[in-house]
Amino acid sequence: MRVLITGGRGQLAHDLGQVFADHDLRLLSRAQLDICNDEQVREVIGAMRPDVVISTAAFVRVDDAEDEIAQSFAVNAGGAGQVARACADAGATLVQISTDYVYGGQLQQEPLTEAALPAPLNVYGASKLGGEYAVRALCPRHYIIRSCGLYGVAGVTSRNGNFVQTMLRLARAGRFISVVNDQHCTPTATADLAQAVCHLLTAPAPFGLYHVTNAGETTWYEFAQRIFALAGLSPEVAPTSTAVFGARARRPLYSVLSSERYVQVTGRDLPPWEDALARYLRATEAMG
Ligand SMILES: NC(=O)c1ccc[n+]([C@@H]2O[C@H](COP(=O)([O-])OP(=O)(O)OC[C@H]3O[C@@H](n4cnc5c(N)ncnc54)[C@H](OP(=O)(O)O)[C@@H]3O)[C@@H](O)[C@H]2O)c1
Repeated sequence: MRVLITGGRGQLAHDLGQVFADHDLRLLSRAQLDICNDEQVREVIGAMRPDVVISTAAFVRVDDAEDEIAQSFAVNAGGAGQVARACADAGATLVQISTDYVYGGQLQQEPLTEAALPAPLNVYGASKLGGEYAVRALCPRHYIIRSCGLYGVAGVTSRNGNFVQTMLRLARAGRFISVVNDQHCTPTATADLAQAVCHLLTAPAPFGLYHVTNAGETTWYEFAQRIFALAGLSPEVAPTSTAVFGARARRPLYSVLSSERYVQVTGRDLPPWEDALARYLRATEAMG
């Protein structure tokens, strides 16, 4: 299978690169393929004629997006649309990676299925939802995969990092750490999400929308506590509320996704978040 991955220097792209290593693979960084550059997108996808494009590229700085609205929509909605049109023209299947942040404004407090109506609370979530709609409108052969709280080994060295690395850095620096305890979600290892993308493609699953996260649910405070316990660290850490923490962007208090559709279609379970975190910490420790 000819596979093209956008956002090649990111966490998920790195692990997709491992999973699809045996295929005819092109993992393209932003410098090699800027999804906002319509001409480049058409040229690269038109020339390679991939069977599958997995688009991970995104403007992911959730708080900055509140002030960089045009740029956030240009990448997450406009860029997604460019890739979708080029895929449709080339007859490629598009896997578009999206987010639990398309939710948050809903009242439902139990795992959200794909039938739950999106209600983003912030610019990032709205722009990613715009990207989903562009993909649906422009590329019939698509999978849209919403996931949550991603962390992967590429986050150890990348500019954007991830929550686990931030917690480890603060703890090792001896800093007092306060973490929100009222946002319920399921942090997900990109290693597991990358495998799930492969399982959806090879099933092959019907096209459409899928929620895919590790199994179970937690809060960022409980997640941080598990990180410290597994890493053998004992920082001073306290729970706080979203209101007191006061991040620039509003965030969902509940965005646990139900991966039931994925499990039914592929016949595969997703590992619990606790196992995924332990595996991630072992892998990053082995990296030195
Ligand atoms: N991180 C999360 O918690 C989370 C949760 C749910 C869903 N998601 C979604 O999952 C996907 C992967 O996330 P991730 O954590 O792997 O992100 P990541 O590590 O930050 O990687 C995103 C990559 O996109 C690239 N990029 C940004 N603008 C681009 C453009 N115009 N053209 C091409 N590439 C561009 C970035 O390049 P530079 O390095 O040059 O900036 C970066 O390498 C994204 O679509 C994100 O929205 C993420």
